[in-house]
Amino acid sequence: MEFSTKSGSVEKQRTACLVIGVYEPRKLTHIGEQIDNISDNYIGNLLRRGDMEGKLGQILLLHHVPNTLADRVLFVGCGKERELTETQYQTIVKKVITTLNETGSMDAICYLTDLKVKGRDTYWKIRFAVETAHQSLYTFDQFKSQKDEARRPLRRFVFNVSSRRELAIGDTAIKDGNAIAAGCAETMDLANTPGNICTPHYLSQRALEFAKEFATIKTTIVSQDELEEMGAGAFIAVAKGSDNPGNLTIMEYQGGPKDEKPIVLVGKGITFDTGGISLKPGEGMDEMKYDMGGAASVFGTMRAVAQMQLPLNLVAIIATAENMPSGKASRPGDIVTSLSGQTIEILNTDAEGRLVLCDALTYAERYNPDVVIDIATLTGAVIIALGHEASGLYSNHNPLGHELMSASDKANDRAWRMPLWDEYADQLKSNFADFSNLGGRPAGSITAAIFLSKFAKKFQWAHLDIAGTAWRSGKAKGATGRPVPLLSQFLMDKVNKNGNA
Ligand code: BES
Ligand code: MN
Ligand code: ZN
Repeated sequence: MEFSTKSGSVEKQRTACLVIGVYEPRKLTHIGEQIDNISDNYIGNLLRRGDMEGKLGQILLLHHVPNTLADRVLFVGCGKERELTETQYQTIVKKVITTLNETGSMDAICYLTDLKVKGRDTYWKIRFAVETAHQSLYTFDQFKSQKDEARRPLRRFVFNVSSRRELAIGDTAIKDGNAIAAGCAETMDLANTPGNICTPHYLSQRALEFAKEFATIKTTIVSQDELEEMGAGAFIAVAKGSDNPGNLTIMEYQGGPKDEKPIVLVGKGITFDTGGISLKPGEGMDEMKYDMGGAASVFGTMRAVAQMQLPLNLVAIIATAENMPSGKASRPGDIVTSLSGQTIEILNTDAEGRLVLCDALTYAERYNPDVVIDIATLTGAVIIALGHEASGLYSNHNPLGHELMSASDKANDRAWRMPLWDEYADQLKSNFADFSNLGGRPAGSITAAIFLSKFAKKFQWAHLDIAGTAWRSGKAKGATGRPVPLLSQFLMDKVNKNGNA
């Protein structure tokens, strides 16, 4: 879909549909009042008769409103004027986009830019609407013989802005929103692709395609054999159980000066997690195809960054393998030596994410990074702690923790800071190795993060546990694209790109 901006009076717009907000109870927005005046109170009368209360997400589609040049006017309920939150704004945009798409309006001019979302400017409102629109229209139907497509889909969506100055702001917001949405779609496509197709090899191929698509990206692949040779014993302990070999897939994006230190993103790319010999129960195991959601979000962020051409250097390390039970798989009790030299007693082969990630973190040292952030569907425990709303955020460097929290707020992609206190480290004690990979049931997301922190001592590091946020279960099962908005915002903030700059 195509987005653009325009600044012009409402009665002169020739379009398939005008989109106008109505607050509760029956209160027209400023633009709504203009249309009401033009149409000799046609709208006001409808409201008084009770056709539209203005409740959040309510819809009223009118044809041929007197004295307008538009085929239709779509009124959308925005709830109480004073209480408009980001989530409500998102609900409104979703409703508008799906309605337009289903009712044959192939283009529309949207006046929702005049809604007051507390603390959010025009840039934010337009960018977020673009992201939300793409998100609402996203489908994953590659494997469906019959595709469910709209007969007359929405093609062009125009944001009205109130001044010429705002046109430029709007155009930047659209560009940024498109890039972040493209990143989310990349992430969702990869994550939704099942484990029989999306293997470690498949992810590496995708990274090679990135290098072809973007002149700024270089891809290299470190094979399982090379990793074994190198001494990445923790990674190998996971990968060796599968017939699909694992690897480290590395994408280097250069947008800044060559000698500038890079930011490194490390993604957990377990393309399927059976649990290994510590086999998972069968129910819902299909969802463990999403155990490469961290890796998928690194791909998505790479795409967003490359599309926006951010002036910084970024390295993506995809730690990818399949966690399978087999005659070659690790057993509970096995002791391995990680790439860092620290030894690990594998008390549970289902705590495999931290095993592949710890060696990837050590590998990251060779890029002399400014900051390293790993992203992983690491623990079921983070879902118990934070549910499906927020990703668990950990950092060994407070300013970095704050930057990520602030990016999370700006991008409306929630994260919540969790502690890395020393006291928790006792839970990882092992009788036979330096430590174990299992911290027991209490504070399971925290002990997993503490485990990783033992491999992140040489740089500023943050960890996002996205097990609760990367995908939805149940009827609406599917990847969410998170935390691409958060990571993209963090990187945009690094180079002061926020629409007003
Ligand atoms: N990929 C899972 C985490 C997970 C579980 C994400 C359920 C989403 C839903 C991870 O590899 C895992 O199995 N973690 C174990 C760790 C435990 C054995 C210490 C868990 O969370 O149960
Ligand atoms: Mn597991
Ligand atoms: Zn896992």
